[in-house]
Amino acid sequence: MRPITVSLLSLLTIQATASPTLQPLDLSSHTLNPRADPSLTSYLGAFFLGDKPSIYFYQSNGNNGLSFKPLNRGQPIINPTKGTQGVRDPSLIAGGGPDAGQKWYIIGTDLHIGKTTWDAAQRTGSRGIFVWESTDLVTWGQERLVQVEDATAGMVWAPDAIWDAEKGQYLVHWASKFYPASDPEHKGSPSAIRIRYAYTRDFRTFTAPGDYINRSPTNIIDLNILPLGGNAYARFMKDETAKTVFTEISTTGLFGTWTRPAGSNAIIASGVEGPAAYWDNQVDGKAYLLLDFYGSDGYRPYETADVKSGKWTASNRSGFPKNLRHGSVLPVNATIAAALSARWPA
Ligand SMILES: *[C@@H]1O[C@H](CO)[C@@H](O)[C@H](O)[C@H]1NC(C)=O
Ligand SMILES: *[C@@H]1O[C@H](CO)[C@@H](O)[C@H](O)[C@H]1NC(C)=O
Repeated sequence: MRPITVSLLSLLTIQATASPTLQPLDLSSHTLNPRADPSLTSYLGAFFLGDKPSIYFYQSNGNNGLSFKPLNRGQPIINPTKGTQGVRDPSLIAGGGPDAGQKWYIIGTDLHIGKTTWDAAQRTGSRGIFVWESTDLVTWGQERLVQVEDATAGMVWAPDAIWDAEKGQYLVHWASKFYPASDPEHKGSPSAIRIRYAYTRDFRTFTAPGDYINRSPTNIIDLNILPLGGNAYARFMKDETAKTVFTEISTTGLFGTWTRPAGSNAIIASGVEGPAAYWDNQVDGKAYLLLDFYGSDGYRPYETADVKSGKWTASNRSGFPKNLRHGSVLPVNATIAAALSARWPA
């Protein structure tokens, strides 16, 4: 039973009613774009800080993707009130399609580790994802906790999403492990952790979930996808068995063929998690990748001029704050940058 399952028919009806004539699809403005864009003058980061499971905002110093300062004088921007009242792994999602430039979402894991144990958090953890939304990236509200898995799931971790222009919906994904129906208390052995997905238009109703990446017996968590333009994508994930982060590339779409460009066992780094990729605002094809050194000082930035190569080098960390944990970074324009600094001064 999944009360959140959306009727696909009703979605199709709405689309058919709203688009009586065929419109050319403008794919360019709906996703992060590998092309530098002079209207993008700043970066907004959303993170959690280790034992502080709230959402903290950081803004770039100037148009520098490697140099950030805390907003709101280092105090949280969002404190969750539902579920465990703790949020981890916040992901900033830019609205797509009719919501492009109009709406943004933050989704995150419902987990306050100070109130539980890592074992309990994976057997009988939250099966919902936190959602907040905004029309300006400054004011956030409409908090909700949307259940996306049924009672056989042990947890729902690190939700993230991208706008799938071809589908006209957001592809949302997360990591779950499952227990047999014969083990309702989840005391026995679970499945491997795999990446699950569903589609949504509004982060309220979701299609029934399915497997997106299943590498059983290897555990996979923390998926992040970077659109490369057209049908090409890079994705980054953590091998939770080997504790490494690696990348795969597809030139045949989100459900196409994915390969590891630097070799079938190639990794970017080990002892890391929570990969978060974003394009440089000013240099075509240059990208950053944040990797969370969870046993040490949190996120450290990496960069490449060729995402498809799978090769990343450590960036200059002198302007990058320490102890930021798994989150995300979104390029923003001058209007939004000014509104953020005015409302949440550094
Ligand atoms: C920034 O984006 C917002 C939201 O789409 C838009 O209203 C505003 O005009 C943009 N500002 C600039 C300088 O591009
Ligand atoms: C790192 O960046 C800082 C500030 O931007 C600069 O002063 C320093 O020289 C850079 N270090 C290296 C090794 O490039």
